[in-house]
Amino acid sequence: MTYTKKPDIAVIVGATGLVGSVIIKTLERFPLPVDSLIALASSRSAGKPVEFRGETTLVEEFDPAAFRTARWVFFSGKDGLSEEFCPVAASEGAWVIDNSASFRMAADIPLVVPEINLHTVGGRPGIIANPNCSTIQLAVALAPLQDEFGLRRVIVSTYQSASGAGGDYHDRLVTDSRAFLIDGKESVTDESLAFNCLPSVGSLTGNGRFSEESKLENELRKILEMADLPVCATAVRVPTMVSHCESVVIETGKPIDPESAREILSGSKGIRVLDDPVNNAFPTPRTATGTDPVWVGRIRPAGIFENDLAFWVVADNLLKGAALNAVQIAQAIHDRESASVT
Ligand SMILES: NC(=O)c1ccc[n+]([C@@H]2O[C@H](COP(=O)([O-])OP(=O)(O)OC[C@H]3O[C@@H](n4cnc5c(N)ncnc54)[C@H](OP(=O)(O)O)[C@@H]3O)[C@@H](O)[C@H]2O)c1
Repeated sequence: MTYTKKPDIAVIVGATGLVGSVIIKTLERFPLPVDSLIALASSRSAGKPVEFRGETTLVEEFDPAAFRTARWVFFSGKDGLSEEFCPVAASEGAWVIDNSASFRMAADIPLVVPEINLHTVGGRPGIIANPNCSTIQLAVALAPLQDEFGLRRVIVSTYQSASGAGGDYHDRLVTDSRAFLIDGKESVTDESLAFNCLPSVGSLTGNGRFSEESKLENELRKILEMADLPVCATAVRVPTMVSHCESVVIETGKPIDPESAREILSGSKGIRVLDDPVNNAFPTPRTATGTDPVWVGRIRPAGIFENDLAFWVVADNLLKGAALNAVQIAQAIHDRESASVT
């Protein structure tokens, strides 16, 4: 069944935030038709100028009436806002791509990484969940290995930057780091990320995991369509500004070796392999920040299971971990619709 396509208008909810502003920049460089952009945020930001494709538009206070004409609605505001208003935008006939955790594990909502599971998106507009930033980069790196070798278990530790917790948290790291250096360590609390590492990302859940760890484990199973995959995640916030790193160990069903894995990953969409540790070549947050790919390096045998591999994955959490993945979803839907019309 077809539906009437709405005008090429994009609404960005949370347009002044870290993710929202990168969505706008990413839309500028994608061919996705966007004739008009509506930037929404809280009342604090109303009237602020936003540049899009050479034109200035002013941020408006959030109002769901903006959804009526839009073909695309990107949610990158607070979680509560998504929960209440994504269904409203969907009922207005828009494709709704949501960056919050509100709908990711809902059975009837696709959780999408375009390289892996675009097939889960139906033909009619509705809500599509953008996965957690740490999940996306892990899934991109694992999917080609899953296809070739089969996956038996995944053990992952994350090293997540401050920007993953939003603009205020990112800015606090700068303020606290200055205070720490200038006034000494007494000037910041033990909970501060400045010169610290915090193995407590999100809120503590019932099974000893923090919510970021549960998200990573559950979302990975959903995206890879392996409901019983054993996954153990430890999520750590580290004092970097942008890009998340992950140390990964996998057990595979078939024998795997670093050379084959390197070759498969190098030929996979969205992945760049940088793996020459002898010459100090491996991805770091500096390598990945501002770039689109998921970077993989330090590929080696783990030496703990019969068939296993250890490696290091880095990606820009605001790009592939959020905004880029969201725009790629919209672009892929648009391309699919255009192909079915011609
Ligand atoms: N940061 C990441 O790496 C990342 C990755 C994946 C997913 N996400 C998710 O993406 C979403 C946005 O994250 P972020 O890091 O961009 O956060 P952020 O920097 O804190 O930005 C939040 C945005 O939401 C807006 N907002 C807050 N309250 C609002 C309200 N009542 N009505 C309308 N707009 C409101 C803010 O507007 P004002 O400027 O006016 O306050 C701002 O534009 C979150 O759901 C987050 O979990 C983030």
